[in-house]
Amino acid sequence: MIVYNNGVYCPLMQAAASVQDRGYQFGDGVYEVIHYTDHHGVDEDWHLDRLDYSLAQLQIPWPMSPTALKQCIRQVRLKNNLSTVNIYISITRGVPVTRDFAFPKRFCPPVLTIIPYRHKPVSQGLRTKGMTVITAPDLRWGRCDIKAIALLAPSMAKQSATEAGADDVWMVDDQGFITEGSSCNAFMVTQAGEILTRPPSHAILKGITRTRLIALARAAGLRVTERPFAVSELNDAAEAFITRTTGFVIPVTRVDQNPVGLGQAGSVTHNLLSLYETFVQEQKHGHITDTTRFAV
Ligand code: PDD
Repeated sequence: MIVYNNGVYCPLMQAAASVQDRGYQFGDGVYEVIHYTDHHGVDEDWHLDRLDYSLAQLQIPWPMSPTALKQCIRQVRLKNNLSTVNIYISITRGVPVTRDFAFPKRFCPPVLTIIPYRHKPVSQGLRTKGMTVITAPDLRWGRCDIKAIALLAPSMAKQSATEAGADDVWMVDDQGFITEGSSCNAFMVTQAGEILTRPPSHAILKGITRTRLIALARAAGLRVTERPFAVSELNDAAEAFITRTTGFVIPVTRVDQNPVGLGQAGSVTHNLLSLYETFVQEQKHGHITDTTRFAV
C-alpha cells in the first residue's frame, strides 16, 4: 500500500513520524475520514471545510491548499488502484524546537499523512439485524467539535463495548443524555415518527453524514428535531440508528441489551439509508451541485 507522508509517496511500512512530533507527544493534530465511491468523494468539500475548522481551532496552518490536498488524495487512490475507499487524512502540528505545552512560537511545518483504508460495505445482515450498543459515561474532553487525533477516551469506550459483546458505545453526559457514539452520531425515532439527534455543540462532532442526512430527511418531509435525548427515552423509541462516513446509516436494534422498538431495523431508518444512498449516486453523477459551505 502506498501512502502520502510528509511530502513523499511511499510504502506504508516506510512511512514514519518523528518521536518529537507534537501529534505523538501531545495528541496535537486533527484528522478527517472521507469516503470515495468510484473516485467521487462524498461531500468531499464539506470534509475539507470541517478540516479547515479543526485546524483553525488549534491554530495549525494548512500544509498545502485544499485543492492541492485533493490532488494528493487522488494520487493515493490512483497509486493504490482503489476507486472505492476510505481515505484517512491527518495533520499534526509537527516537530517543534523544544518541548513546551504552549504552541511553538517559531513556525513549525505541519505534517500531513494520507492513508487509504479498504472500504467494507455495510453487510445486508447488519442492515436488517442492526447494531447493538451499550451506554457508558462520556469521558472525553470539552471540545469534541474539533476532530482531534487524540482518541483515547473513545478508544477505551469502544473496548468496553467489545468486552461486553456489543458493537459500539453510546456515550452519556452528566445529565443522562446521549452525546454520540464512539465514532458516529446517534439518532432515535419516536413512536410518532419524529427523528431526534443532539444539536451541534462542543459536546459532539458535527458529522458530515449527520448534516447531509438531516437535510435529505427534511427535504423528504420527515420531521427532524435537533435536541438531546435521554437514555431513558430509548425505552419508548420506535427506532434508533447511527451515521458515519464509513457506514452511512446503520440501524441500532439493542441498547444495553434492551430491544429498541421491535428489536429489528425499522422502516424510517431503512428509508433514510435509501435517501442517503441515492444522494451519493446523484452527487457522484453531478446531478447535485451543492455549493453551500459546511459550517461547524
Ligand atoms: N468518525 N462523531 C465522532 C466522535 C466521530 O469520530 C465521527 C466520525 C462521527 C461521524 O462523523 P462523519 O459523519 O463526518 O463521519 C461522529 C470517523 C469516521 C472515524 O473516526 O473513523
